[in-house]
Amino acid sequence: MARMKKTAEVPPCYAMVLPGLEAIAAEEIASDLGGDIRKTLRGIVVFRVPEITEQLLQLRTTEDVFVLAWGTDELTHRALDLKNITRWTASNADWQRLLQIHHAVHVRPKGKPTYHLVTQLTGQHVYHRSAAREALAKGLAGKFPATWKPAEENAAVEVWLTIQKQTAVCGLRLSDRTMRHRTYKTEHLPASLRPTVAAAMVRLAEAQAGMTVLDPMCGAGTLLAEQIESSRRQGKGIVHTWGGDRDLNALRAAVTNLRRVGPTILAQWDSRALPLATHSVDRILSNPPFGKQLSTPEEIGPLYRECASEWNRVLRPHGVAVLLVAEMEPLLEALRPHRWRPVRRLRVQILGQTATISVWRKPEE
Ligand SMILES: C[S@@+](CC[C@H](N)C(=O)[O-])C[C@H]1O[C@@H](n2cnc3c(N)ncnc32)[C@H](O)[C@@H]1O
Repeated sequence: MARMKKTAEVPPCYAMVLPGLEAIAAEEIASDLGGDIRKTLRGIVVFRVPEITEQLLQLRTTEDVFVLAWGTDELTHRALDLKNITRWTASNADWQRLLQIHHAVHVRPKGKPTYHLVTQLTGQHVYHRSAAREALAKGLAGKFPATWKPAEENAAVEVWLTIQKQTAVCGLRLSDRTMRHRTYKTEHLPASLRPTVAAAMVRLAEAQAGMTVLDPMCGAGTLLAEQIESSRRQGKGIVHTWGGDRDLNALRAAVTNLRRVGPTILAQWDSRALPLATHSVDRILSNPPFGKQLSTPEEIGPLYRECASEWNRVLRPHGVAVLLVAEMEPLLEALRPHRWRPVRRLRVQILGQTATISVWRKPEE
């Protein structure tokens, strides 16, 4: 990425995404915002939009969005970087203009203006994160009004510097925590899915108006909530959502979370014997239990096999399933007899754990 100079045109933006979701977030930015994708790094998508508006905050597959102050892929990993960080921060960005954009988009907390600096650093550099933060602070000297106070939490303005090996992006955070956590999600379960991952799975399923989408192991209802939100935003008509779980506590959490999102049919059931008619659903979205938290490896194989056979029964021919699992092998084995066709696979990093989203299409019978 060439270093960005002061410019009168709309500055670029960047989004932070869970590693592995870059492609799907780029698709969302391009199709929903008309964005032009400039660069994709691990966990970061740099893009331009014709205008920076609150619409940016409507993105579903991104964890955070920023307006870019400067970016580089010329870091040396040596101490020289620190001087450059200060110099680029001081000279390569029009902070007044960035603040104007920020204030137009971001909801301003009440009270005295405050700011917060966030520095992230991955890769091997001779300097520490704290030194990069100091370099950033030096570059920002005099850029904000003297009355602004630093604050650790709920700051009115957050300046982020993210360094990944020889690449760095620095910008103002436009989103707040509700982008990644959503407002509907008041009930959390230990294995609850991250909303941005659920949103990515919903995009991959491409459900159309009039279709029925099933989450047979719905937990706290995140996939169902994202499906309802997505169809509402598209405004092309209702997608029917059905969900169930064998655990009553999970169902209660789903009921609470979905209450403010939209209507859905929920039931207590065992995903291996669903009370649903054959070929009654068009899409299946699921993240069956995985990891030590919920199941042992010995349980996963039989559970996936029995679920696959039941899901194959209820899914209509040509229907699509989008599944998230930690281990692909038991899933592949479970699906083999049903000859579902693999459409797409994404390896994602969710809270330090690697998992795979796979998209499948059921053939004609
Ligand atoms: C990883 S969680 C699902 C999270 C959920 N998709 C969400 O959006 O938050 C897995 C869920 O599968 C449920 N489960 C496990 N075995 C089941 C079975 N045989 N039938 C139905 N639900 C089951 C668990 O109770 C748990 O809530």
